[in-house]
Order: sequence, then structure tokens, then C-alpha cells
Amino acid sequence: MEFSIKSGHPEKQRSACIIIGIFEPRRLSAAGEQLDLISESWLSNLIRRGDIEGTAGQTLLLHNVPNTLCDRVLLVGCGKEREFNDAAYRKAIATAAKTVNESGAMDAVSFLPELTVKGRDAYWKVRQAIEATQDALYTFDELKSDTGIERRPLRKLVLSVTSRRDLPAAEQALIDGNAIAGGVEIARRLGNLPGNICTPTYLAEQAIELGKQHDKLTVKVLEQADMEELGMGSLLSVAKGSREPAKFITMEYNGGNSDSKPHVFVGKGITFDSGGISIKPSPAMDEMKFDMCGAASVMGLMNTVTELKLPINVIGIIPSCENMPDGLANKPGDIVTSMAGLTIEVLNTDAEGRLILCDALTYSERYNPATVVDIATLTGACVIALGAHATGLLGNHRGLSNDLLNAGKYSGDRAWEMPLWDEYQDQLKSNFADIANIGGREAGTITAACFLSRFTKKLNWVHLDIAGVAWKGGAEKGATGRPVPMMTQYLLDKVASGK
Ligand code: BES
Ligand code: MN
Ligand code: ZN
Repeated sequence: MEFSIKSGHPEKQRSACIIIGIFEPRRLSAAGEQLDLISESWLSNLIRRGDIEGTAGQTLLLHNVPNTLCDRVLLVGCGKEREFNDAAYRKAIATAAKTVNESGAMDAVSFLPELTVKGRDAYWKVRQAIEATQDALYTFDELKSDTGIERRPLRKLVLSVTSRRDLPAAEQALIDGNAIAGGVEIARRLGNLPGNICTPTYLAEQAIELGKQHDKLTVKVLEQADMEELGMGSLLSVAKGSREPAKFITMEYNGGNSDSKPHVFVGKGITFDSGGISIKPSPAMDEMKFDMCGAASVMGLMNTVTELKLPINVIGIIPSCENMPDGLANKPGDIVTSMAGLTIEVLNTDAEGRLILCDALTYSERYNPATVVDIATLTGACVIALGAHATGLLGNHRGLSNDLLNAGKYSGDRAWEMPLWDEYQDQLKSNFADIANIGGREAGTITAACFLSRFTKKLNWVHLDIAGVAWKGGAEKGATGRPVPMMTQYLLDKVASGK
């Protein structure tokens, strides 16, 4: 989709479709009022007749509205004006995108960014419009023979801002929004690919491919022999149960001074999680192809950061393997030695994410990083605690946690903090090794983070548990690309604050 920015009058737009907001009950937005005026009350007459109320999600597509230069006018219900918040704005944008895309109009001018959203400026509204539109129109059909692609899809969308003074900010929002939406798309695609295609080797190839496209991005792939040399016994113990070789991918973006400490992102890359010998139940096991969504989000983020040429250093680290049951697989009770030297009793082979992440976190120390954020579909308990709306956030550095929580609020890709108190650490005691890989039924998300915290004592670190947000189940089954928007915002804030 090609987006552009404009500040103009609705009655002067020569376009296949004009998109106008309408609030409940039956109240046209300012742009709608202007159109109504020149159409000699055509719109208000229809509205009075009761064709649209303005409820959120409602739409009314009109043809041949008198005295306009456009083929169609799409009215989009926005709900009550007083309740028109961030979420309602995104919903109106998404509804408009889907409806226009199916209308036959191949270009459109949207006046929705002119609506007032409390506390939000033109930059925010334009960027969100781009992200929400791309999100709504995304399809994954590269593995279908009949793609069912729209005959006449929406190709060009002009976003109208209220005043000419908004144009510079809106142009920046256009650049940032496109880059973020691109990163989200990469993450969604990788997440949606099945485990037999998206293997650790495939992830490594895709990372190398991204590296070839940008000269400031250097991608390296460590093989199993390299990991053995580094002493990554914990990661390799998970990989042993699979015929697919493990890969350890690093993506280094150097946009900042060579002496400025990098921001490191570590993404869990289990390309399929069967549970291993502690095998999972069959229902919905297919969704464990999404267990590499942390890795996918890191790859998406690296692409976004590179495209935006951010003046900072950013490192992506992706430990990747499968978790399978096999004669060589980890068995409950096995004790493995991590790269950090800590011995781990593997009481449950399904708690494999932490086993690969701990070695990757130890590896991250060599970058002398400013901050380290790991992103992982780590615990089913997080889905129970927070559901599908919030990423679980736990960390050892107040400032870093706050920065990510705030970036989540701004981007609409939100996280919620859970406590990482010392009291929970006791649940990881083992009679036979330094630490057990599970902490019992209680507080599963917290004890998983406690496990990771044993390997991050030297780091400013935050753990993002994305088990609930990385994909949707049911009829809309598919990867979301979260938390690419949150992480990008976090880095944009870093750049803006000069830290
Ligand atoms: N990848 C899963 C976590 C998961 C499960 C995410 C369901 C989303 C939906 C992870 O590897 C796992 O299996 N965790 C176990 C840990 C337990 C054995 C302590 C879990 O959550 O059940
Ligand atoms: Mn598991
Ligand atoms: Zn897993």
C-alpha cells in the first residue's frame, strides 16, 4: 500500500472514495459537515432517514453524492465522540480499510486522521493509521493455491491532516509508520509459516537475507559446533532431541558511534515446541509453530531499525532450535550445564524456552550492552494471567521497565508488569543441581522470569512474555507481529532523548 499525506478540503478531492467519520448519535465529523454542505444536505438527509447511527464498526458506502469529485463516500461509525480514544480510532481506521478494500475503489482519501483523539497529535494519528491499515489488510496466502486476492484492492491511501502546519510531523509519521508496519509484516509472516518450512535453518537464511539488503546490518550464524565450543550446554540439550540443527543468529546494526553501548534484543526461536519428552496434549499443538514469535519480532525490529537508519547500535540475538521427543532428547531429571556454568535440573522438558534463552543472555554480555530485552512466548501461565491484550513484563532495572511500559502505552502495543521479588526465587530450588528449570504450579510466569534473572545479574534487563499476544487463535488464527511496535517506540524514545 502506498500512503501519502495531504491537507485539503473534502469537497475538492478527486478520488475513488472519500472516508468520513460519523459519531453516535448521527453526528457527522467536521469533514462530513463540509461534504454535506456542498451536497445540499444529501448526507444529513440519509442520516435522518436512519441509514447509519454512527456506532463503532458501522459503515455506509454511498455512490454519486451530488457536487462531489469522488466516486464514493464511505461513512465510518466511530461511536460516541466523548469516548473516541486510541482504541476506537484504530478500530475506525481498520474498519475503513477493510470496507474500502472490498468496495472496488483502488485509491481513497481518509479524513479520519482529522478526528480529535484525546492527547494525540497528527504524528500519532498518521502513524497509527498506517499501522492499523496494514494490519487490517494483511493476509497470509503464500501457501494457498487459490489466493482469493481482491480483484480491485485498495492501492493508494491519502491521509488528510487538519492543518498545513501538521504536514512535517505527518511526513515523519509516514516514514516511521511504514517502517514499523514493514517490521510487523516480517514478524507475522515468519510466525505464520509452519514448522516444517520455518526451521532454525530457514530463520538463519532469512536473517542472512535481511543482512544482504542493508549494509549497516551484519548477520552471523553460529553452528552447533560453535555453540559447543562456547559451552552452551543448556541450549544444545534442547536441540539434541531434534533432527533439525540448532542455529544461533546474531544481527548487528551499527547506526551509532562505535563507542556507544548497544541495545540488545534476544528472541526465543523455538520453531516447534512439542514439549519434548514432557509432551504436550494434542489439541491446538499446531499453535506451537508460533513458539518462534519472539525471534520473528526481533527480525522485524532489526529491519525497522535499519530502514529508519536510527543513530544507535542495536543487536538482535536469536537462539533457535526445535523441541522434540527423541531418543537423544532431554529427559526429566537430566542435569545440563549452561554457558554461565550454572547446572540446571530439567524437571520438565517443556520448559525449554528458558533453557535456550539463558545461554543467549549469557552470550549477550560480550556486547557490553546498555540494555538487554528478551522476547519470548515463554509461559502458558502468562496467557491465563493477562489474556491476549498485554505482554507480561518483568525486569531488574526500574528505568528500563518504565521505558518499555511507556513505549507500550504510546504505541498501543501494551505491557503490564509483574513482580520479580526474591521470595519467588525459592521455587527454583533443586536437590541435585544449582537450579531447577520449573518452579511449580504457582506464579509460572514469574518463576520463569526468576530463572532467567539468574543469568542476567550483570545486565540491565527486561523480559517480555508474549505468550498471550504473539498470535491469535480461533477463526482469526495467526501471528500478530507484536511487540515490534512497542520495541520500535522504545528505541525511537531513546533516540529522541539522546540516551
Ligand atoms: N511455548 C510454551 C509456552 C506457551 C504455552 C505459550 C501455551 C503459549 C501457549 C513453553 O515452552 C512451555 O511449554 N511452557 C510451559 C512451562 C511449564 C512446563 C513450567 C507451560 O507454560 O506450560
Ligand atoms: Mn514448552
Ligand atoms: Zn516453548
